[in-house]
Amino acid sequence: MSHTLADLPLASPTIARAGVIGWPVAHSRSPLIHGYWLAQLGINGRYDRIAVRPEDISRFLADLPTSGLLGCNVTVPHKEAAFAAAERLDDIALAIGAVNTLWIEDGCLNATNTDGPGFLANLDEIVPGWSAKPAAALVLGAGGAARAVVWALRERGFAVRIANRTVERATDLARRFGPDVSAHRLDAATGLAGEASIVVNTTTLGMAGSDPLPLDMDRLRPDAIAADIVYTPLITPFLAAARARNLPTVDGLGMLLHQAVVGFSRWFGATPRVTPELRRLILDDLGEAA
Ligand code: ATR
Repeated sequence: MSHTLADLPLASPTIARAGVIGWPVAHSRSPLIHGYWLAQLGINGRYDRIAVRPEDISRFLADLPTSGLLGCNVTVPHKEAAFAAAERLDDIALAIGAVNTLWIEDGCLNATNTDGPGFLANLDEIVPGWSAKPAAALVLGAGGAARAVVWALRERGFAVRIANRTVERATDLARRFGPDVSAHRLDAATGLAGEASIVVNTTTLGMAGSDPLPLDMDRLRPDAIAADIVYTPLITPFLAAARARNLPTVDGLGMLLHQAVVGFSRWFGATPRVTPELRRLILDDLGEAA
């Protein structure tokens, strides 16, 4: 069902309200994450799934500043519309060229991208000091998630190699980030792996039912970090192979949880924590073993 702002669940004006917009939106885990934090922090608020049909998105975004909502997350297929409708894009949104989080400030629609900061916060937690001596990074994939990951790695000073099945997409992405980012075919990944101190999978390869990554894990450096943005399954074949080689591994769920911190803080004015209990809650919902 598609909601207009007027059909949103009735809440008293004292309840702080945010949500996630998409079409479809039923799969989003964001309500579970933000609902957990609202309860933990004792905030009188709610965070809803809001299904918005593609033909209704322009109207929805135009009405958002006066809707009573504090803002929302944006998922497919509305990210481009949100980017176009935002009255103020912060530096991160401009650098990445995509947004996933909107909030109302001074009556204006503001936008940012929380995926890049979420990727960094997760790595900082799981592998402290990982970017102390930035070297080369290898990013597999050149879609929306890769844009955020490349931005994040550039923020920390890494030279980035992007390897993608459709090399033109890698080239477009590399161009966006300048001379320290290069584009390659996906089948060049194995040859590039030996010089990377971190390898990040942003492709959908490794998700349940998909093909494995075409990457010879024996070519990774013995101290390379292996990070995946896929979290279904939590331990992808790429991460399992990295673990078998005793490499530090970083799964995609941590990025999902850490990126949510930014939006929550904007809307509800408190900084929540990513706890083992929250992780467990989402894993249980995903039906994953620990
Ligand atoms: P997202 O926005 O989540 O990153 P996306 O834009 O659809 O999603 O990007 C998915 C990534 O997975 C792309 O890099 C895609 O490669 P292409 O640009 O060549 O499409 C990659 N991908 C998906 N299926 C793949 C496959 N079977 N083999 C290799 N790469 C694949």
